[in-house]
Amino acid sequence: MNGPVPRKGILDIDAYVPGKSAAPAGVKLWKLSSNETPLGPSAQAKAAYAAAGEKLELYPDGASSALRAAIAARYGLDPARLICGAGSDELLSLLAYTYLGPGDEAVYSEHGFLVYKIATLAAGATPVVAPEKNYTADVDALLARVTAKTKIVFLANPNNPTGTYLPFDEVKRLHAGLRSDILLVLDAAYAEYVRANDYESGLELVATSPNVVMARTFSKIYGLANLRLGWMVGPPAVIDAVNRIRGPFNVSGPAMAAGMAAIQDDAHVADAIAHNDKWLAFLTKELTGLGLGVTPSVGNFLLVHFSKEAGKSARDADAFLTERGLILRRVDAYGLPDALRLTIGSEEANRLVVETLREFLGK
Ligand SMILES: Cc1ncc(COP(=O)(O)O)c(C=O)c1O
Repeated sequence: MNGPVPRKGILDIDAYVPGKSAAPAGVKLWKLSSNETPLGPSAQAKAAYAAAGEKLELYPDGASSALRAAIAARYGLDPARLICGAGSDELLSLLAYTYLGPGDEAVYSEHGFLVYKIATLAAGATPVVAPEKNYTADVDALLARVTAKTKIVFLANPNNPTGTYLPFDEVKRLHAGLRSDILLVLDAAYAEYVRANDYESGLELVATSPNVVMARTFSKIYGLANLRLGWMVGPPAVIDAVNRIRGPFNVSGPAMAAGMAAIQDDAHVADAIAHNDKWLAFLTKELTGLGLGVTPSVGNFLLVHFSKEAGKSARDADAFLTERGLILRRVDAYGLPDALRLTIGSEEANRLVVETLREFLGK
């Protein structure tokens, strides 16, 4: 007897493999594999979460109204143009299910965030990959891959796992080159960390275009990854379409409460930015000084390149670090088998990574 058969293409998907989170028994764990913040969430967010935990028997507000109002007030947006999700991952998948089907194509860049491929395949559509230059999305290459079948272009800006970004002028050039029936999805999960004058997360483009959305997350700088909370701003017609297929209660009440408190705690965000600025620069300098290739990053993580030499490879480094409790991210699935991605951690973790890699390299 045959069992149920998944739709065509589903079994071609390689399931997303999250960053490892275990160290050998008895070794202290330093999890630097999922771009989580070493500062944790705002104390106000934790208090709001705990208070919301007193009312678990009630369904949450399915429209996330209060959270949308808080985000709208924070960024000067119209709440009717916002939608919240169980992480921005959910919103990226909902976009794929809303706009893609068999025969359609979604374009993204070579080392782009893996969820784009998974969401595209899950919707039965075809992923189209554009090569990058210097580990950075290339607008001309993306535009050259657009065909009559293209329905979505996904751009993580900054991108994970490379840490590179496109200046706003380049994003505008990408948008200007797309037909108006192609949705440009700007995924700005790391926007709060970026310190570059020529960067813009997408708010301006969304405000003035009928075919651009921007997704944001509470998982990174706000330290609420465990609660699964993200949001997206877009044209009313896009938000309306996505709302029709989202789960009726896709965001939990405690997550909404924590998110509302988190975006009001500017001091905590400022601390997280200052910490990241300091240790991103430290790690870039120290690891470069050890002779490792480090892709310049504007996020809260670094792509570190190793040699192919036996005993000195990314795989060897990963094993060496893991034995000592330092868990980085292998990025083979991103087409980067010779690199590891390192999340900016606490001062102690960052210093330990440098010393451990120094030992690994025999310096
Ligand atoms: C570029 C990018 N987009 C989206 C996400 C998804 O974040 P979440 O679903 O936790 O909001 C991540 C998480 O790693 C990411 O790196």
